[in-house]
Amino acid sequence: MAIRKIRELGEEVLTKSCKEVPKMTLRTRILIGDMLDTMYEAGGVGLAAPQVGVLKKVVTIDIGDGPIVMVNPEILEASGEQSGEEGCLSVPGKAGVVTRPNYVKVRAFDENMEEFELEAEELLARACCHEIDHLEGKMYVDLVEGGLHDVEPEEE
Ligand code: NI
Repeated sequence: MAIRKIRELGEEVLTKSCKEVPKMTLRTRILIGDMLDTMYEAGGVGLAAPQVGVLKKVVTIDIGDGPIVMVNPEILEASGEQSGEEGCLSVPGKAGVVTRPNYVKVRAFDENMEEFELEAEELLARACCHEIDHLEGKMYVDLVEGGLHDVEPEEE
């Protein structure tokens, strides 16, 4: 597995829609492993394939409860509302307030293409929405209320 280069706001690949993954291949397995490595290395809670320059519907998330891999994720239900600080590994050093659903139900496939449903609340719901948006070329900066602000880099 390897660390991949994280693409940053302004790069065209972040504005494109991703393709469905029709079946698991070695190439996609390697992508998933690299995305997890890259996400952990960067200290993020989520990463979407376009952020490493790949237009496939693949997302990795870990809010501290272990890794979640979502292939071809789809939000089935959303309800409630939460407003909170959000950031993105593709927009380093910045954050801003975004309102998201407080609850989502997501259907996706894991790295073995086994279908599963995930019910998520609060931070996990936010992460699901943020990462799934990336797969449609959407960035949180377009949803920020009151503008982006600078954040201190995390202590190593
Ligand atoms: Ni992001």
